[in-house]
Amino acid sequence: MTTVALLGLDLVLGLLAVAVWAYAAVRAGTSGLRWALAGLLVLLVRLATALVLAGRGWELAAERVTVGVPLGLLAAAVAIGLLLNARRPDRTGLTAARIALWSAAGASAVSLALTGVVGYPGGPGPAGHDHSHSGGLSVTDLRTPPVGSVKKVELVARTQGVTLPSGRVVDAWTFGSLPGPTLTALVGETLEVTLGNRDITGGVTLHWHGLSVPNGEDGVAGVTQDAVFPGETFVYRFRAEQPGTFWYHTHQHGREGIARGLYGALVVQPAAGAAAGVDLVLPFHTIGTTAILGGTDQVQREVVAANTPVRLRLVNTEQQPRRFALTGAAFRVMALDGVDLNGPTELSDQALRIPAGGRYDLAFTMPAHPVRLAVEGARQTGLLLAGTADAAGPEARVPKATFDPTTYGSPQPVPGMTGEYDVSTTIVLDRLPRVVHGRPALAQTVNGGVYPDIPPIMVAEGDLVRMRVVNRSFETHPMHPHGHHVLVLSVNGRAPTGSPLWLDTFDVQPGEVWEVALRADNPGIWMDHCHNLEHASAGMMFHLAYAGVSTPFSHGPGSPNVPE
Ligand code: C2O
Ligand code: CU
Repeated sequence: MTTVALLGLDLVLGLLAVAVWAYAAVRAGTSGLRWALAGLLVLLVRLATALVLAGRGWELAAERVTVGVPLGLLAAAVAIGLLLNARRPDRTGLTAARIALWSAAGASAVSLALTGVVGYPGGPGPAGHDHSHSGGLSVTDLRTPPVGSVKKVELVARTQGVTLPSGRVVDAWTFGSLPGPTLTALVGETLEVTLGNRDITGGVTLHWHGLSVPNGEDGVAGVTQDAVFPGETFVYRFRAEQPGTFWYHTHQHGREGIARGLYGALVVQPAAGAAAGVDLVLPFHTIGTTAILGGTDQVQREVVAANTPVRLRLVNTEQQPRRFALTGAAFRVMALDGVDLNGPTELSDQALRIPAGGRYDLAFTMPAHPVRLAVEGARQTGLLLAGTADAAGPEARVPKATFDPTTYGSPQPVPGMTGEYDVSTTIVLDRLPRVVHGRPALAQTVNGGVYPDIPPIMVAEGDLVRMRVVNRSFETHPMHPHGHHVLVLSVNGRAPTGSPLWLDTFDVQPGEVWEVALRADNPGIWMDHCHNLEHASAGMMFHLAYAGVSTPFSHGPGSPNVPE
C-alpha cells in the first residue's frame, strides 16, 4: 500500500474508532460489549497501520505510535473490563462502564486531534535561533562588486494587455513581454540587470531561481532588499558561474505577480558559446485559464532540418507539477534544474513530470520526420519541429509511464559531499489549523509552525548540511532552497542508483521522505520554501541562515514587503 494511502486509512480508522466507541457507549446496557469489541478491532488495525507508517518514516506516525493509539487502547481495555463486570444487572457497574466507553471514544478523538491539530513533533521545529537581526555581516554587504565589463539589461515591470497569437487578450503584469525576455549569459560573464517599475503598485523584485548568486542579489523582498515600487529602481549584478537553464521572477507578492506574468527564462551557455543546432527555451505557464508554452498559446512551429542537434529547455513556472512528453524522437535528459546529469541514456515513451519551478533540458538529433512536444492538460499548446513549415505532426500523446530521475544515468563520485554532517535537520510538512496573516486558517506548516514563526536552519560557512524532508500532508510540495543546489541522498529510503542529482526544486509528494545534502558555501539569509506559492503564502517558508549574517529589511504587519 502506498504511504499516502496508509495516511488516508489511518484518518478513516481514527474517525471510525470515535464513532464505534461512542455508539458502544449509547448501547452500553444491551449490545455495548459487541460494539466495544468492534471498537477494539478498529484500534488494533489502526495500530498496525501506524506501525507500518512509522516504518516508512518515523515522523509520519510518531505521535500515533507513542501516544495516540496506546491512549485509545488503554481506555478500550478499561471499558471492556468494566463492561464484562457490569453484565450482571447492577446500575452502578453499568454507569461506570458507560463512562469508560465515552472515555474510550474521547481517547480516540484526542488521538485524532494530536495528529490533525498538534501535528509532529508537537512543537516548533528545526534547531537553532533566529539571529537574523544581529550579527556582524549584513545581507547588503553580500553583493557583487561592480566589475569592469558587464552585460547590461533593463527590465521594467508594468501592467500590460497582451494579445496572444490566438487573438486572445490577457491582462498581464510583465517585464516588457509575456513571458519576460529570455536573458542569456556566457559562463564568466557578469550580468547587470536594472529593474524598474512602471505601475505595479504592490511592488516587484527579481529573484534568480536556481542561480547561486550572492545573497544581496537574491531579490527576496523583506529579506535581501526592499520591494521596488513605481518610479524606483534596483540594480542586480551577478557573475554567471553555472551553465544551464534558470528562470527569474518577482519575489514580492510572488503568488499573484508570477501568476500574472512577472517571470522569464535565463539561460547560461558555456564560456565557449552555445552548441551548434537548435536551442529553444520553453517556459510553461497558465495565465488565467490560458496555457502558454514559450511565447504562444498555440502550437509553436519550427523548421528544423534532419540531423540537426536539438536542445529543448523546459521550465515549469506554475504552481503544480506538469507532465511533458516528446513524440517522434528518442531523447536524452541532459540536465535537471540547470545541472548536467552524468551518462544520460536514450529515452522514449516516458513522460517528464516537472515540479513547479523545475527545469528539464532535453536533447536529441532531429529525425527525418516531425517531432512533437506536448504538455498534459494543455492540448492547444505545444511545439512542432519539422523539416517544412506546413508538415503535419504526430498526434500529441502523453505516455502513462513517468521518467524517474533517481534511476537515470550513471553514478559518479561527488567530491566534497562526504564526511560527517555538521548540521542535520528534519523538516516535517503538514496541513494544520493555525493562524496565518492574523487569521485562523488551515495552514501549510513546517514542523507545526507557520512562516515567519519557524526557527531557521542555522549553519556556519563550510558546514555540510543534511535535511530530511517528510510530507505528512495530502498535497505535493515542491521545495525550493535559495542560493544552493541540494544533492539527493535518498527518496523514501532509496539512494539514487543513477547520476548524482543536484536539484534546486524537488517535489516531495504526499507521504514521501527525502534526504538531501548541501554544502553551506554561500553566506546569507536564504529562503527555503514550497514553490506552490499558495502553500508558501499559507505558511510553508523558512530560512536557511548563516551565523553572523543579519538583515536590515523586514516584512510582515506594517511593512510593504510581502515576499510570498
Ligand atoms: Cu522561484 Cu523563492 O523562488
Ligand atoms: Cu506546498
